[in-house]
Amino acid sequence: MVSEFGGGDAPVSGVHRVPRKKGAGNERGIMRLLVIGSGGREHALAWRLAKTPGLQKVFVAPGNAGTAHEHGVENVDLADPQALADFAEQQGVALTVVGPEAPLAGGIVNLFRARGLKIFGPTREAAQLESSKDFAKRFMVRHGIPTARFASFADGRAAHAYVEQQGAPIVVKADGLAAGKGVVVALSVAEAHAAIDSMLGDKRVGGQETARVVIEEYLEGEEASFIVMVDGKNVLALASSQDHKRIGDGDRGPNTGGMGAYSPAPVVTPEVHARTMREIILPTVRGMAADGIPYTGFLYAGLMIGKDASVKTVEFNCRLGDPETQPIMMRLKSDLLNLLEHAVAGRLDEVEASWDRRVALGVVLAAANYPGQPRTGDVILGLPPGSDDSHVFHAGTTGKDGRILTSGGRVLCVTALGDNIRQAQKRAYDAIVGIHFDGMQYRRDIGHRALSR
Ligand code: AMP
Ligand code: GLY
Repeated sequence: MVSEFGGGDAPVSGVHRVPRKKGAGNERGIMRLLVIGSGGREHALAWRLAKTPGLQKVFVAPGNAGTAHEHGVENVDLADPQALADFAEQQGVALTVVGPEAPLAGGIVNLFRARGLKIFGPTREAAQLESSKDFAKRFMVRHGIPTARFASFADGRAAHAYVEQQGAPIVVKADGLAAGKGVVVALSVAEAHAAIDSMLGDKRVGGQETARVVIEEYLEGEEASFIVMVDGKNVLALASSQDHKRIGDGDRGPNTGGMGAYSPAPVVTPEVHARTMREIILPTVRGMAADGIPYTGFLYAGLMIGKDASVKTVEFNCRLGDPETQPIMMRLKSDLLNLLEHAVAGRLDEVEASWDRRVALGVVLAAANYPGQPRTGDVILGLPPGSDDSHVFHAGTTGKDGRILTSGGRVLCVTALGDNIRQAQKRAYDAIVGIHFDGMQYRRDIGHRALSR
């Protein structure tokens, strides 16, 4: 799909064109890895992994025009889980990392493990922390993990009555994966009623039948992304980060998958960090194990942080954030493969991660009409070369006849390091100046919360 783009590694279609490497996996010089996904998060993961000393190759399935072009990275045009497992087996892939939630919720980790293949991610059962808001809320209540009060409904009439009784502001969420878009923060009761009708009546939300809505207490505070690696028992926290979910400057307009992010998030003070680990992350990891569904993989807690440094869980994601991963990977100084290997072996307690003390900030460039159905096929011009302190991570891009075209809602994430938030922000926006595609939209205020502190 993205294979025609010139200048990168030779494309692989199916499993035929790369000669099998016998016995690969033990020595790094011949080690091959596989990253599943095609977004900016996966580009950042592959970019970081490709820097591992002595590593032979990072495959990305299906990848994008950015991963096609990255040194040491090669796209594989596969998406079917069985075909991916066949590929990993045939290529002697030492370790697979899954980017997006959909294959995790579909059980790709169960499948790989059943075939004796190493993979980092949660099982289908554990991924319910993200794939079912109803599961996640019940889990949190059962284990005393702080979160908004809620009720869950399949019946529209009961949902409407609950909203009448609770009043506004109130939050209405579709149960099931909805890429951050199945949530309405209703400022009026009328808005909440409309959201219930649209979610219980609209079978397209999240690309699947919506059976339930979850209605939640509105939480006040500042949001941050708290992402950790989990090996079933031990936890390794990654650097903190903050996302910008709304399409427009000043956090206005509809929710998106994320329009920009930076790391670290100053709102995550040492006290907030300690409380999050103590009150949310560790009880979650212990609770999942106690419930017989040990959690392995990246775990992302979306936090709402109160003025008093109290923390509540807005949501769990069973994966890394996008675009949070892009600045986080720019700051990671440790060998990512080493961390992943320890995680898969259940030995995360033996490693620590070290971080560039600088700030990294990424600005998402989105396609025309995003977060609605995006227009695709626009030619992207003026992409700057990567440097030591900036990198353009691709998401919805594809190569065709030597050109790079838009192929999704979020197209690029221009990410830069700086000594402070202002410098990182300036570098990222300076790198955007030359980039152009028709309909390109981006926020001008990424980093505003950190700046106003
Ligand atoms: P979610 O998909 O659950 O993360 O929700 C998407 C966004 O909606 C969050 O990032 C918040 O900005 C907002 N949101 C979700 N739940 C609440 C809540 N209970 N109170 C306030 N805002 C919320
Ligand atoms: N950026 C938010 C997410 O990855 O869910």
